[in-house]
This record gives sequence, C-alpha cells and structure tokens, in this order.
Amino acid sequence: MPPHVYIEDIANYTGQTVTIKGWLYNKRSSGKIRFLMVRDGTGIIQAVGSFADLGEEQIAAIDTLNQESSLIITGSVRADDRAPGGFELMLNNVQPVSLSLDEYPITPKEHGTAFLMDHRHLWIRSKRQVAILRIRHAIIKAVRDFFDERGFTLFDPPIFTANACEGTSTLFHTDYFGEDAYLSQSGQLYGEAGAMALGKIYTFGPTFRAEKSKTRRHLTEFWMIEPEVAYLDLEGAMKLAEDMVEFVVKRVLATRSKELQDIERDTKILEKIVTPFPRITYTEAIGILKQSDHEIEWGDDIGGDEETTISNQFDRPVIVHHFPSAIKAFYMKRDKNDDRLALGFDMLASEGKGEIIGGGQREDDRVVLVERINEHKLPVEAFGWFLDLRKYGSVPHAGYGLGLERLVGWICDLPHVRETIPFPRMMSRLKP
Ligand code: 4AD
Ligand code: MG
Repeated sequence: MPPHVYIEDIANYTGQTVTIKGWLYNKRSSGKIRFLMVRDGTGIIQAVGSFADLGEEQIAAIDTLNQESSLIITGSVRADDRAPGGFELMLNNVQPVSLSLDEYPITPKEHGTAFLMDHRHLWIRSKRQVAILRIRHAIIKAVRDFFDERGFTLFDPPIFTANACEGTSTLFHTDYFGEDAYLSQSGQLYGEAGAMALGKIYTFGPTFRAEKSKTRRHLTEFWMIEPEVAYLDLEGAMKLAEDMVEFVVKRVLATRSKELQDIERDTKILEKIVTPFPRITYTEAIGILKQSDHEIEWGDDIGGDEETTISNQFDRPVIVHHFPSAIKAFYMKRDKNDDRLALGFDMLASEGKGEIIGGGQREDDRVVLVERINEHKLPVEAFGWFLDLRKYGSVPHAGYGLGLERLVGWICDLPHVRETIPFPRMMSRLKP
C-alpha cells in the first residue's frame, strides 16, 4: 500500500500516490464522477473518483458511503488552486472501513446550541471545532515553551486539597475518607511552596469552581497555568504576563494560520498584540466606568460587563492594577504606601473579552498573613504548611494565574468559553 500520510502534510507529496485514512465529511456526484470530502483530523481533502479509474464496483461502494463513514483511500496528489485546500486526490482505490449505522445527526445545516452541546462527542469532528482544538493545543505548547525556555520548572500541585484558595463560596466539596476535601480552585498556594524550593515554577492543571454563574466566561472545570517566582514583585509579574501573552499570540499566528482562517478570525487584530500593554490603576478603571455610565463606586468589584467596557477602550490587552485589598484574596500583599490597596493585577483581553489573568505579589510576612486569614474567616489550622513558607527564609514573591479557556476564547474570538475545551463543564452541563 502507498505510504499513509496526513492531509496537513499533503503538499510534500505532489505527484505521488498516497494513502489517507479518515472519515467521509461530505460527498457529491456529477455524472460519472464522484467527489468525496475526506477528513482525517489534520485537514479535509477533496478526492475525485471516476468510473474509468475506479470501475463499477468501487463506484457502487462509494455510493453506499454515508456521512462520517470511515474509509481508506489511495490516489495521486494533484495541486489545484480551485480545490479547497489547494490539493486534490485523484482516486485509484476506495476501501470502506465502517459505514455510519444511522444518519449522522450533525448535518451541514445549522443546529441550535443545545443540540450541538448534547452531541459534543460528535460536534468536535466539525471543521470549526477541529480548528479551535488545534489552536488550543498550539496555545498550550506555546505557554509551556515560553516557561521552559526561561528556566521555569513545571510543578504539579494536588487536586484534592484541604484548604480554600479563592474564597469559600465556590468550593466543590468532597468526602475524603471521612475528612473534608475540596477540588482545587487554584494551584497557587502549592506553587508558592514550589517557588521557594525551585526558584521559578509554573503549574498547569485543571482547577474547579462551583460557580453558580451562567456567563459566557465561566466553567466549573477549567485549566489554569500559574507561574510563581521567588524574588519577584508586582511589576515583574505584570511584565512576565504581558511577555507571555505576546509570545503565545505570535506563535499561534505563525503556526496555526490555516486554522485561524478556518474559523474566520481577523488576524490583523492579533498582529497588533505587542508589548508593552497599556496599564491603568483600579482607580483609573473606576473613572472610565463612571464616564461610560456604569453605576459603580470606588471599592466595588469590577464585574463582567464592566470588564467588557474597559477592554473595549484598548486595541491590546490592558492591565488593571492596585485593586482595593477588601475585594481581593487573603494572600495579596498590600501597598506599603496605601494600606487600602493590594499589589494585585488583572489582565483584560481586548475586543471586550474580559479577564484572562489574575495575579500579583504575595503577602510574605507571617504575622500579617495570619491576620488576613482570620479577617477572611478561613480556618488558620488548614494553612499551617502555607505559613511555614513565611517562617523559613521568607522572600518577596509573585505570580499569576492564566485561564486557558479564556485565552483560547479570546484568541479565537469565540462568543462563549464552551467551545474552547473538548467537554465543557458548566453549572447546567455534566454530559456528555
Ligand atoms: O483570578 P483568579 O481567580 O486567580 C486565581 O485563582 C489566583 N490564585 C491565580 C494566581 O495568582 N496564581 O483566576 C485566574 C484566572 C482568571 O483570570 C480567569 O482567566 C480564569 O483563571 N478563571 C476562569 N476561567 C473559566 N471559568 C472560571 N470559572 C474561571 N475562574 C477563573
Ligand atoms: Mg480574578
């Protein structure tokens, strides 16, 4: 059998006979010619079969193939500008593998979101979903390369935890052999231990929030990347975050241009994502919001709609920093010049997409940290090990958390995070 190749590599085989193993995406016929659109996960190619080349029996076999039947085809590769993708396969053999036993539920016509979500296990075969998932993978690879090339060590935090990181209202509780355990909301606290051991680390894993909010930006299970660096301050963390975002966007533009085209992403907007990103203080953000007729006062949290208003003012992501400490997590260090402020920042994506990163400098004083834990009414006993980090050679340190699905949603310009992950988990969605 001629060599098995993947459709994305087809340009290297012009004029040669190759085998492609995949599924039937679509087909049409015109007189004695059959046109098969075949997908293999890396692309879609048009395969052309004639009576003369295939014979009656094979043409009859083709005519039994329905949408998403699996098949193995061989033929010679021909460059043709008019063909979708620029190449065609001139068939000399078609071997059905398994016919679809029923009419495939997802047809080229429009389907409602609920229907598609119920069929997510099949929906991911669609061209657009394949493109998004391939971009997601490129983003993951780029994030990892960014940190790996800068000497960070990947550090895997636990998922079962005994303590809250981001407030107790969004904890998923579970019974751990008679003890209370929670699914991790963030790897940060363990990341801090890692930074004291290894200098600079990043975590990359699933995180969980029992979010009762049904928004376009909330999942109950999502993937977070959390760098944590010893001897780093707020300024250093903001710089690291913007360098990372610029690096990732550049890489996606360079390696996933076909997929960006498949989803009709306006790449001119992405080409503008260069550092330095604009920075504003929380106080300035409140000023912008008041001018845009939001009912908000200094001290209020900035919600999703407010984030959209702020990020719509800029053609690049914007960093908002120095939030009121009262609305931020217990671990944030306060500004020594103004005790009302925390040394924290959020990065809001452009195009109104909202927060993609949250982070800042950590409280490194043991006594102050105990006070904060008590103020937040968290059980201080559960934080013994975390306080130890401030007992033995405490140093200033900082980091942040990047929400992978929010980043994918922004880079792909998707209206909702549900298409950014293979099987989204949301308040009202546990299946498939
Ligand atoms: O802002 P968050 O809650 O920050 C933390 O968890 C810190 N402990 C991170 C750190 O400093 N190491 O979450 C960080 C990011 C958000 O900016 C957002 O991108 C994403 O995680 N995120 C969510 N993504 C999807 N669904 C949700 N429910 C999310 N909650 C947070
Ligand atoms: Mg946040």
